[in-house]
Amino acid sequence: MSEIITNNIPASEPERQYYFMDACRELLREKSEEEGRKLTYLTDTLGCQMNAKDSEKMNAVLEYIGYEPCEEGEVPDFVLYNTCTVRENANQKIYGHLGILKNQKEKKPSMKIALCGCMMQEKDEVELVKNKYKYVDIVFGTHNIYKLAELVYENIFTEKRVIDVWDEPDKIVEDLPTKRKYDFKAGVNIMYGCDNFCTYCIVPYVRGRERSRKADDIINEIRKLVSDGVTEVMLLGQNVNSYGKKFLDEDISEKDRIDFATLLRKVNEIEGIKRIRFMTSHPKDLSDDLIEAMADCEKVCSHLHLPLQSGSSKLLKKMNRSYDKEAYLNLVERIKNKLPDIALTTDIIVGFPGETEEDFEDTLDVIRKVRYESAYTFIYSKRTGTPAAKLPDSNTKEIIQERFDRLLEEIRQISSEIAETKVGRTAELLIEEVNPRDEKMVSGRLSDNSIVHIPGAPSMVGSYVNVRINESKGFYYIGDRI
Ligand code: 5AD
Ligand code: SF4
Repeated sequence: MSEIITNNIPASEPERQYYFMDACRELLREKSEEEGRKLTYLTDTLGCQMNAKDSEKMNAVLEYIGYEPCEEGEVPDFVLYNTCTVRENANQKIYGHLGILKNQKEKKPSMKIALCGCMMQEKDEVELVKNKYKYVDIVFGTHNIYKLAELVYENIFTEKRVIDVWDEPDKIVEDLPTKRKYDFKAGVNIMYGCDNFCTYCIVPYVRGRERSRKADDIINEIRKLVSDGVTEVMLLGQNVNSYGKKFLDEDISEKDRIDFATLLRKVNEIEGIKRIRFMTSHPKDLSDDLIEAMADCEKVCSHLHLPLQSGSSKLLKKMNRSYDKEAYLNLVERIKNKLPDIALTTDIIVGFPGETEEDFEDTLDVIRKVRYESAYTFIYSKRTGTPAAKLPDSNTKEIIQERFDRLLEEIRQISSEIAETKVGRTAELLIEEVNPRDEKMVSGRLSDNSIVHIPGAPSMVGSYVNVRINESKGFYYIGDRI
């Protein structure tokens, strides 16, 4: 980028990014005046809560530099795809979208297309984009999303495609603008990366090593969110239970080295916060201290997502999950003893290499014993570069599909039995939105994460109301304000 380097570009962050944001704003203002119209953007986010959070940060940068959100049906001036690569079909989806964008770009050549996120941390995918999708303007990964404005500036200024993917993060830049989807709830990163290396999973390769943020920074961010009107926070990390093992700042003092249970207690003390959620917990690190903290902290929601992946001890070992069937069931028992009303949800993979009918029966057995409120179910997807990709497997697609269908049926049956027990209960609902299909109804979530629709008005969005659950509809409930 040597030709654009002029004097006065700050070397330190976030000042450097503000410099480029202001520079982009100027360029885009000129372009907007030239064309006599506003410039628009569209962000498409695939994958997990981490990606959703990253997109919020990038959307804020795009708006700061002068793009406005694109209206439905409009062709945007800037398209950002925040990709996921956890399963093969996520990659396919992106290439499908790129095909559609090619046509749009032929009609509107000034359109910019940017790809970022986990899929762009894979060298083969970047090569493919480089060679086959030449109309993509900007490519970057998970470690340098904070540089968005700098990359946009470089692309506009040089009129050349910009590809900037880093193998490792250099630093985490935090004080950049952010834009939230909801005024009253927000995700807060407490850690980045993952060190678990489950053998099927690509995340540790694309999100890098585990690094926790300092508790004071997290607390200050939440206090600021409260002053902006937020009452519910979701503490985010690939594996929140190992919060505090490794910090971003290695020289952190002993007193700042706190674990997740202690962090939860600190967040619980923040005035103005009414609900605390967190995602995702790894069963191997879920301590009795944490169960105790969840029981003591009245703001911690009555929901725990506890990925099982498989109920077979043999497969769990092959997956490198560091627990077996018995340890998982024992953990669930300890949780239920302390938190009898907790809603448990999970992730399950079917068709991991070498899965036998007996292994699958073990998964069904755990499901019947734990009785999850709901579960995310996945067919194993081979990810090149992970250890499991080299394991032999003789299961056919048909066998795996048949098991997957049986799994879904088992989960559906248990979920609906649990749902029926909730009918007639009363609980506090945080109203999140006007129901898009019926404007006389509003929808929200209970502490246990159940979705409830009640008659209401737009002014109720963001408020907490007591409701009675009248009817279960499978994935949601119908209720009334009381
Ligand atoms: N194939 C299928 N599912 C996977 N997951 C992660 N990697 C794979 C894979 N290769 C699932 C796990 C994880 C969730 C986020 O995605 O269940 O908990
Ligand atoms: Fe992937 Fe396992 Fe890390 Fe979760 S804990 S992100 S499944 S490696």
